[in-house]
Amino acid sequence: MSAYLDNAATSWPKPEAVYLAVDAFMRQVGATPGRGGHWREEEAARIADEARGALAQLLNAPDPAGIAFTMNATQALNMALKGILRPGDHVITSSIEHNAVWRPLKALERRGVAVTAVPCAADGTLDPADVAAAIRPDTRLIAMLHASNVLGTILPIGEIGKIAHDHGILLLVDAAQTAGAYPIDMASMRIDLLAFPGHKGLYGPHGTGGLVVRPGIQLETWVEGGSGTESAPETMPEALPLRLEAGTQNAAGIAGLLAGVRFVLEQGVARIREHELALTALLIDALREVPGLAVLGPVDLERRTAVVSVTVEGYIPDQLAAVLDQVFDIATRAGLHCAPQAHRTAGTLETGALRFSPGYFTTADEVREAAEALLSIL
Ligand SMILES: Cc1ncc(COP(=O)(O)O)c(C=O)c1O
Repeated sequence: MSAYLDNAATSWPKPEAVYLAVDAFMRQVGATPGRGGHWREEEAARIADEARGALAQLLNAPDPAGIAFTMNATQALNMALKGILRPGDHVITSSIEHNAVWRPLKALERRGVAVTAVPCAADGTLDPADVAAAIRPDTRLIAMLHASNVLGTILPIGEIGKIAHDHGILLLVDAAQTAGAYPIDMASMRIDLLAFPGHKGLYGPHGTGGLVVRPGIQLETWVEGGSGTESAPETMPEALPLRLEAGTQNAAGIAGLLAGVRFVLEQGVARIREHELALTALLIDALREVPGLAVLGPVDLERRTAVVSVTVEGYIPDQLAAVLDQVFDIATRAGLHCAPQAHRTAGTLETGALRFSPGYFTTADEVREAAEALLSIL
């Protein structure tokens, strides 16, 4: 018995094409976009641009050039929050954010940015009317996750986008749990900025991610340095993506990310979602029989992603995860999942929870075995 049920942290395994793309890039291309006047550099730049094109297609992003690569979603979120917000600005967020949004906002709060966290219900659901009610004359930005990595709850980003748009406020979405796993249409959802990890639902390697910026939004730079071209000025270039891509990028990782995004486009987000939702239903059904077990998040499956966090009366989640790992080789994640706000909202800040997160490569048998393993431990 063995199962990897920690896809909400990083997806694994990856499609075969991803391994091959990283290997081929490192052996056969090797150079860095924008650095060098030779065919290897041109090939590296072509791959990076192709990755931007594939991502723009997947997310219906307004302009592939507005996609800057980063190391992960956290870096992209920091870039956006610190590039937009100034002292005196007001920002609206939710009460279930990951620390990747929460901690930069708390840092900005110490520098004079006002932060309102709109309360979600204990299952993570949020009423868009509460977001509208939190708007003030100085509100500059709404920054929210698309889905919770603890509760699985999907927030109504389309409705929030309309509210933001009607009030002339920018919308930044943390798509860490949805990019590749749930439909995202930046245009119809009126998303101005979107942060994504490459290493989760897009099946890229570690050290990949990015920020999508709608044309016309000028971000203050967060990191300055070499941009490969346009080297003479003492400031970063105005144009994206160069403005946000100081220093040598993870070109091999981006080659892998391109293969991952192509895989998602080939399979189709709808099919990936259907498989993951079926596994989620199966898991929740199987766990229902466990005495003293509570499943966090919405009851309505359509409102959740493939994240199933549970608490079991009388058991410490970390110990359950340790036994699942050591005895059954089943990978889960216990604790606060870098999201104490979500746990506070759910009422599990003291205990934490045990999280199962199946992925597209998880089978129904693996999910059943995980549920049986938990039952046998208890
Ligand atoms: C909702 C959410 N936001 C942000 C992040 C941070 O992503 P990364 O690890 O790519 O920085 C995660 C990662 O688990 C997440 O689940």
